[in-house]
Amino acid sequence: MASEKQQSILVTGGAGFIGTHTVLQLLNEGFKVSIIDNLDNSVEEAVDRVRDLAGRDGSRNLIFHVGDLRNKDDLEKVFSQTRFDAVIHFAGLKAVGESVAKPLRYYDNNLIGTLNLIEFMLNYGCKKLVFSSSATVYGQPEKIPCVEDFELKAMNPYGRTKLFLEEIARDVQKADPEWRIILLRYFNPVGAHISGQIGEDPKGIPNNLMPYIQQVAVGRLPELNIFGHDYPTKDGSAIRDYIHVMDLADGHIAALRKIFTADDIGCTAYNLGTGCGTSVFEMVAAFEKASGKKIPIKLCPRRPGDATAVYASTEKAEKELGWKARYGVEEMCRDQWNWASKNPWGYHSQP
Ligand code: NAD
Ligand code: UD1
Repeated sequence: MASEKQQSILVTGGAGFIGTHTVLQLLNEGFKVSIIDNLDNSVEEAVDRVRDLAGRDGSRNLIFHVGDLRNKDDLEKVFSQTRFDAVIHFAGLKAVGESVAKPLRYYDNNLIGTLNLIEFMLNYGCKKLVFSSSATVYGQPEKIPCVEDFELKAMNPYGRTKLFLEEIARDVQKADPEWRIILLRYFNPVGAHISGQIGEDPKGIPNNLMPYIQQVAVGRLPELNIFGHDYPTKDGSAIRDYIHVMDLADGHIAALRKIFTADDIGCTAYNLGTGCGTSVFEMVAAFEKASGKKIPIKLCPRRPGDATAVYASTEKAEKELGWKARYGVEEMCRDQWNWASKNPWGYHSQP
């Protein structure tokens, strides 16, 4: 019997932020990895850096295909070359604001891309899938912490693509019980690999808090807008569950192990968060401490659609995946700053 160490994993969107960190951990664990990515929101340099970090043995186990999940010829090339034991599916568009302005782009990319992927997995007899979902499926939760069996709601087209895809996955598995599907609901991924060689590199002005703070710290943006300081929280700013991207990467390995070893998975969801809530002001203070830089702030009105406080219940993942986040806010800010200070313009050498 082939040992778990030699299994082949297809990682869609593996050139992106969470994908690169997960691919590196997969290679470190001895998996063979193929990436398919259309480089819509990433660059090939990120994959080259993963190869460097993985060393000679690890990089020998990595194949990179530039391809689009909406293009069946691209999928045919990938699936006909390698027999996959499982797929980790990150590829998707994720900007909430853009999804409101361009809903069809989001439905086309995220839904059609995933339907094609499932079709090829079926054609090639691979029925094991780990899917990137999001805490966005809890909408504005009435209670916290968020538990996996809460009612699901979507607040925008991006959130609806995640919600629809979760439902599609449940239907696919119900119709054919041979499928084993794990839906991972990420809370707020931040931080970077400890080497500072890979990290998040958003195109344009960042929407999310940590990349924005990072760009203020390196002088690319003048100040941070704090969206809301009158929330009913300890300091008036909103509370989120930030999770180190390396913890997330390890959560995917734990999910794969579960998929390979348990036969009663069906289609089930797990939160990947720390279970701890941190306010925007606390996050700014932690980043200032880690970087030694002052982050100028401007107090602004609340951002429409934002929830007051969102954090995860981590019980199910701890119990069933044997996974628990190891890093706190201090390490998240330390590693994010290490990445930012070494790569102030991300993967590009100049503006
Ligand atoms: P990312 O944009 O850095 O990575 C996604 C990758 O998918 C990119 O490299 C992009 O080029 C690729 N891609 C997009 N559409 C594709 C297509 N049709 N065919 C091939 N490749 C395609 O984003 P990320 O932060 O790494 O997120 C990965 C996944 O996790 C996404 O599905 C996202 O919705 C989900 N997620 C992210 C967050 C977050 O805050 N980062 C939170 C919750 C869920
Ligand atoms: C956002 C998305 C969510 C997605 C998640 C991925 C929205 C409404 N939600 O969540 O769907 O899954 O990213 O990480 O966009 N903040 C500022 N100033 C800024 C940026 C953010 O004060 O410049 C505040 C926000 O108001 C929020 C907190 O920081 O209170 C975190 O914001 P962000 O990083 O955008 O994440 P979420 O809003 O939690």
